[in-house]
Amino acid sequence: MTEAILLVGGKGTRLRPLTVRTPKPMVPAAGVPFLTHQLARAREAGVEHIVLATSYLAEVFEPYFGDGSALGLELEYVTEREPLGTGGAIRNVASRLRSGPGDPVLIFNGDILTGLDIRALVGTHTRSGADISLHLTRVEDPRAYGLVPTDANGRVTAFLEKPQTPEEIVTDQINAGAYVFRRSVIDAIPEGRPVSVERETFPDLLAAGAHLQGMVDSTYWLDLGTPHAFVRGSADLVLGRAPSPAVPGRCGEHLILPTASVAPDAKLSAGTVIGPGAVIGPGARLTATAVLPDAVIEPGALITHSLIGAKARVGARTILANAVIGDGATIGADNELRDGIRIWCDLVLPPATIRFSPDE
Ligand code: GDD
Ligand code: MG
Repeated sequence: MTEAILLVGGKGTRLRPLTVRTPKPMVPAAGVPFLTHQLARAREAGVEHIVLATSYLAEVFEPYFGDGSALGLELEYVTEREPLGTGGAIRNVASRLRSGPGDPVLIFNGDILTGLDIRALVGTHTRSGADISLHLTRVEDPRAYGLVPTDANGRVTAFLEKPQTPEEIVTDQINAGAYVFRRSVIDAIPEGRPVSVERETFPDLLAAGAHLQGMVDSTYWLDLGTPHAFVRGSADLVLGRAPSPAVPGRCGEHLILPTASVAPDAKLSAGTVIGPGAVIGPGARLTATAVLPDAVIEPGALITHSLIGAKARVGARTILANAVIGDGATIGADNELRDGIRIWCDLVLPPATIRFSPDE
């Protein structure tokens, strides 16, 4: 069966402070490092050998996933000395591939949550005889992605990464971050220097007349690159809206990991997850929120669409909406933090001293 490369070397800057100590694919979503969901889905589709292309905080992957046998996989790790970009990272792991020159190799961006039918993508690739096949999806605002117009047969006609001008927005079809490359195409990527598949390999191959085939699949799809998206992805996994065989428990309104402690009258809803060792005090109300391991939520806190870092503490009656609290940070009692606010790791915010009664 097919083998795969997973690109997990990005710095995850848009997810800071969660990615200061943890690379993006290792931040927990629905109770396990996000990467677990991608590995488990690939395994489910019949992939047995996966090479992780690592760079930023590379040392944390192997101690956690080891040889992959716990997931029924054979995992290998290759770390870049300097970040090589998406194409450079793919080329850099080529020596670990076992496929022959004409065989299909799957490649995945490491931050995508999707219900993509992986076997169907490989099937499209084989049937069309393409050099590269790409999973495409449609989004309302394509500007943050790679735009991929196709002809009537699904053949890719151009690749426009993160268009800068309105004239470049020629389609709402975007690169969804899953590809099949013919093995020999990987070997032809220049070695030992940074290469972006999006900005160099795809446009160059198209200019040279290569066959890039698009497969539009409108199943669940989300790039977890921003805090807002990450919180939503985690909640969708808990709710069962996003498919993953790796959710550690039954899907529903909430997921409580073993060794977490939740007060009986606390209310957890809309896909809230409580990580191992976390403590949720009496009367707390959490909506669509991810609480990472060993965090503490004090009594009466009201939290919605937020991410609470590992070992962080949220004080009594504090209100959080669309907030990211870094690992180890402390938010004192009676604060109110909203609208995308991010609190850095280990920061201590004192209790709010002025309190208003509700009718003031
Ligand atoms: N090993 C390695 N080395 N991996 C890298 C490097 C590197 O130097 N740079 C990025 N990556 C990995 C990231 O970890 C991520 O998994 C993937 O490559 C894509 O990088 P992102 O930084 O997440 O890119 P993006 O989200 O802005 O855009 C990409 O994804 C979109 C879909 O979500 C592009 O592929 C777009 O064309 C696409 O539409
Ligand atoms: Mg991304």
